[in-house]
Amino acid sequence: MSVSIQPSEALPLKPYKSLSNTELSQRIQTVRQQLGDSLLILGHHYQQDEVIEHSDLRGDSYQLSQMAAESAACKTIVFCGVHFMAETADILANRPEKLEQRDGQRVRVILPDMAAGCSMADMAAIDQVENAWADMGEVIDTKTVIPVTYINSAASLKAFCGRNGGIVCTSSNARAVLEWAFERGQRVFFFPDQHLGRNTALTMDITNDQMPVWDPYEDELGGNDEQAIRDSRVILWKGHCSVHQMFRPEHVDAFRKNHPGIKILVHPECPQDVNDLADVSGSTGKIINTVKESPAGTKWAIGTELHLVNRLKQEHPEQEIHFLSPVICMCATMYRIDLAHLCWCLENLVAKENVNVIEVDEETSRWSLVALERMLAVK
Ligand code: 13P
Ligand code: SF4
Repeated sequence: MSVSIQPSEALPLKPYKSLSNTELSQRIQTVRQQLGDSLLILGHHYQQDEVIEHSDLRGDSYQLSQMAAESAACKTIVFCGVHFMAETADILANRPEKLEQRDGQRVRVILPDMAAGCSMADMAAIDQVENAWADMGEVIDTKTVIPVTYINSAASLKAFCGRNGGIVCTSSNARAVLEWAFERGQRVFFFPDQHLGRNTALTMDITNDQMPVWDPYEDELGGNDEQAIRDSRVILWKGHCSVHQMFRPEHVDAFRKNHPGIKILVHPECPQDVNDLADVSGSTGKIINTVKESPAGTKWAIGTELHLVNRLKQEHPEQEIHFLSPVICMCATMYRIDLAHLCWCLENLVAKENVNVIEVDEETSRWSLVALERMLAVK
């Protein structure tokens, strides 16, 4: 669990909401100059452009966790992303060897808006996962099951994996992590994103009939019979991303019909029927690199969060880039981080009133770190 106690003397947020972006930007710049290297602003690729402009480093979930793990000079990380990312940064930046190097001084991790969560991460609560583990243990030996949590999950789930011989994955290393898991166990219990789990396992010759979906709201074995659990190779949690589930196979068909030669590029959180039709599937980092490395004139329809696709359009006018869906698919929680929240938390930092600090409790951090370090060691 992570806790956040707001100081009573903190500057209030409300006045910041009526300031123009120009003024907010200038004030953010002033704080950045004042704090220099002691402040590190990290930005996930799905953040809006105004926020990305103020990020010292931007990346996908894996790159951002590496950056947090490597942070050396900084005293504060302001994480422009969502809650699970800030928790991960806190765990990695404050792991024992780092604390020792800094004479016990913690890196403060701040999430500009505490309501910036992830609806997928919220689909798996620790008590549900523990109940599922106990229930499947009535049918199969859980010592042969490796739990794998997508990084888009609460720290308590990462700790569960750490305690039970499991590991964390991101969308950029899911295949390597599943290989790691199958070297150590016969089955994988994958949560919370069924689509990333399924799309990855399908590339490893695992079939859908070996991947029962565990619905935490079903009483008996997550809605499965005993045989399905015994025959399983990957038990998938019934969770999904509300943004990526909006992409449909008919969107792919329409682009292929109306734009001959177009290539389809999607994030593996998309459902299998879309992922199967794509030319390339990969993390936000891979999506960016694929576009960057393509020759001028390449045509793309991209199935991932809108802000990233729009940024790619601006940064690559030499290519033809379309958003895969006819309806807007944006991550509403990522979007909560705006210049008003960023400026507010930075000016509070200067006033020595730390707002929105994310600090994972010691026990959860310790076990989450076990699972995160296993992931960071997977090549
Ligand atoms: P990446 O791992 O590609 O950064 O994706 C994170 C995420 O939340 C996608 O929805
Ligand atoms: Fe979570 Fe989906 Fe938003 Fe990513 S895009 S942070 S998975 S809700």
